[in-house]
Amino acid sequence: MNDELEKLKGDVKLPLSVIIRRTLKYISSEKGGFILSLFLLALNVLLDSISPLFTRAITDELVKDDINIRLIMNIVILSFLITCINQFFLYLNARTLQNSGQRIIYRLRREIFEHIENMSLNQFNEMPVGSLVTRVTSYTASMSDLFTGVLVRILRDVTTLVGVYVIMFFISPSLATSLLGVVAVVFVISYIFSKVVRGIFRKERACISDINTFLSENLAGMKLTQVFNQEKTKEEQFLVKNEALRKQRFNVIKAFGVYRPLISFIYNCSIALCFAQGIRFGLSAGEIVAFYLYLSKFFNPIQNLADQLNALQKALTASERIFNLLDVKPDVLDKPDALEIDHFEGKIEFRNVWFAYKDENWILKDVSFVIDPKQTCAFVGATGAGKTTILSLIVRNYEVQKGEILIDDININDIKISSLRKAVGQMLQDVFLFSGTIKDNITLHDESFTMDEIKEACHYVNADSFIDVLPKGVEEEIIEKGENLSQGQRQLLSFARTVIHKPQILILDEATANIDTETEVLIQESLEKMKSIGTMLVVAHRLSTIQHADQIIVLQNGEIVERGNHQQLLKNRGYYYKLYQLQFDN
Ligand SMILES: Nc1ncnc2c1ncn2[C@@H]1O[C@H](COP(=O)(O)OP(=O)(O)O)[C@@H](O)[C@H]1O
Ligand SMILES: [Mg+2]
Repeated sequence: MNDELEKLKGDVKLPLSVIIRRTLKYISSEKGGFILSLFLLALNVLLDSISPLFTRAITDELVKDDINIRLIMNIVILSFLITCINQFFLYLNARTLQNSGQRIIYRLRREIFEHIENMSLNQFNEMPVGSLVTRVTSYTASMSDLFTGVLVRILRDVTTLVGVYVIMFFISPSLATSLLGVVAVVFVISYIFSKVVRGIFRKERACISDINTFLSENLAGMKLTQVFNQEKTKEEQFLVKNEALRKQRFNVIKAFGVYRPLISFIYNCSIALCFAQGIRFGLSAGEIVAFYLYLSKFFNPIQNLADQLNALQKALTASERIFNLLDVKPDVLDKPDALEIDHFEGKIEFRNVWFAYKDENWILKDVSFVIDPKQTCAFVGATGAGKTTILSLIVRNYEVQKGEILIDDININDIKISSLRKAVGQMLQDVFLFSGTIKDNITLHDESFTMDEIKEACHYVNADSFIDVLPKGVEEEIIEKGENLSQGQRQLLSFARTVIHKPQILILDEATANIDTETEVLIQESLEKMKSIGTMLVVAHRLSTIQHADQIIVLQNGEIVERGNHQQLLKNRGYYYKLYQLQFDN
């Protein structure tokens, strides 16, 4: 698994053939669209390439003594009609391509999102969120550009180059041959240019990504920056990155500033060559004009080709990064015969559980306990003792290395994760609120809850006391992850969210910390009520919160050092007693 994650950080190189094969697999699902598009493309290039031939016919007619106006008019009308048809083909082609391309990207975005959702928390924690966002948005956009633009443009440019040269050869073999030297020079220059520019582009992309990371971090942490008067330092750091980007951007412009005029110069030389040689080889006026027009048609794709190759490179890198992410196999998987369980009694047992986040760095050491259905069990211990870890193992955020965890005497590894998480209601210290209304945050967009049920849940946990005075009640919008609510109010909301989903097991991790005394009373009340819902596991710093628990487990460095109820533990005069004394004195 670790190898898989390394890939994400350093982004491992996949062989080009693998990238192309996997990219083609996506195209194959839209085969019809792409074949139609190729057909339209061929028609388009063909019609586009014959247009100078009309100019040639008209010019040859114009230099005659008795000009046939009728013939010229007919040619003009024909040419006009062909242009119209061609434009229509162009439109049709763009539509077909975009349709197929966007459908592929739609599916791809969904695939990536579902893939990320299925990863275990352990894997998720090791990936920078920014990098994941980029993969779902920008990289899929680059890949979409590949399907809807780059590939087709490259195909069009190459076929145009070949087609136009064949026609030029057909008009005058000798003139076409004498242009070969120029063509060779242009190709060499374009090749060197694309190499140089690729390097610059890569540096530019690194600068942009650097600035983006800096921005997203610092905008999110703006409050902290201002509180600590760090504006000047941050400004200077930003200045350095900004300057680096400006330099790279300017390098790009410098490179193009040399390349474009150079090609333009060669183009003009070849026009001069075309006229001089054309006359020498005895071409007609029409032939020389047609040749001149074909030259411009010939140089356009050459100039574009360097750009297109860069876009191709960019798109392939994007595909590679997307594949890198898709290659990370989700850690925790349901067994094929995992049990779907609708209702648990709520007995929880840890049997000699050993757990480490990494390697052999044991966070839990041989932890065993049993909690009977509907009992309340509290965990006490210093910060870092392993309380949160125990709770997150119950919902299988991580897998234990040794021992087993059982619910209703069934190993949790044999239970479907979805059943498990449905049965366990988690209330954590940091309440996460999504953007949306209070109602959405309680029901999590499950439309099957009636308004009465929502009101009842709010009332049950005392959340109605503050919701009812809001102008829009439960329809009030949550601003910026809950900035418009106090810590305690957010906590009450998370209680309501848990209660309405009717869990059989409740987990409460320091949910009562950092709360003003006024809301604390409300929270204490609702906690007492919630005990009757099901088995409850509580971590709380304030011992007053847990005094009435049926069982209190005291942890030290991942080991259980004491257990019993409040009275028994006080009698023991051990760690719990000391803790109690400490808080009591305060
Ligand atoms: N995601 C994680 N990755 C690695 N180590 C972790 C992770 N979460 C917690 N730890 C470590 O595990 C130990 C126990 O943490 P935790 O269970 O959160 O303690 P508590 O909740 O009792 O304060 C700590 O030493 C902590 O540094
Ligand atoms: Mg904790």
